[in-house]
Amino acid sequence: MIRIAPSLLASDFANLQKEIESVSHADFLHVDIMDGVFVPNLAMGVSTAAAIGKVTKIPMDVHLMIIRPQNYIEAFAKAGAEIITVHTESDCDLGECIAKIKACGKKPGLVINPDTPIDAVLPYLEELYMVLVMTVQPGFGGQKCREDCFEKVRALRKIITERGLSVHIEVDGGITAENAPKAIAAGADVLVAGSSVFGAPDRNAAIDALRGI
Ligand code: DX5
Ligand code: ZN
Repeated sequence: MIRIAPSLLASDFANLQKEIESVSHADFLHVDIMDGVFVPNLAMGVSTAAAIGKVTKIPMDVHLMIIRPQNYIEAFAKAGAEIITVHTESDCDLGECIAKIKACGKKPGLVINPDTPIDAVLPYLEELYMVLVMTVQPGFGGQKCREDCFEKVRALRKIITERGLSVHIEVDGGITAENAPKAIAAGADVLVAGSSVFGAPDRNAAIDALRGI
């Protein structure tokens, strides 16, 4: 089953509730949190996530692009996150972050940037709900997908299968209906899409197109 996670970063923040209602076919709502340190941009925070959680039943997939994620896990869990993903490149003990997310009753994920090898997540695979493979340098929506990252998806899917696990692989950055089949063929089963969903006149049709229906 392919799951689609529209990235609210590309939505109209002045009409957030309406924007959320326009993506009712979504499986997750992808919420990008940026601290201006880990990435050169600022976006959303705990209060925004809590406000989103109040107006939807679609589970929130919170992507923490922040330098010290361990300090904010509990707050985002309380805000209603379902999945919390932490960058392997951030300044934290990944094992502790995963344990903290689980202790909050949430689903943990680790993220690798385009230039980070999959080795960074391999020691933790057994503990994870999801691995997020970035297909752009994080920080901004609307960038072009780095399709070379699909090779990492392929290698990761092979290892997950060999280990008998059922870890999801999410791709994030420049995903469109044109490149989605390549991501899926490589083994991704959760697709984040900002511009290609919120830039479309019919958002649910764009979500269905990504899913391949
Ligand atoms: C980038 C974010 C992405 C971004 C995706 O730092 O993590 O989630 O919003 O947007 P598009 O699909 O426009 O690349
Ligand atoms: Zn993201």
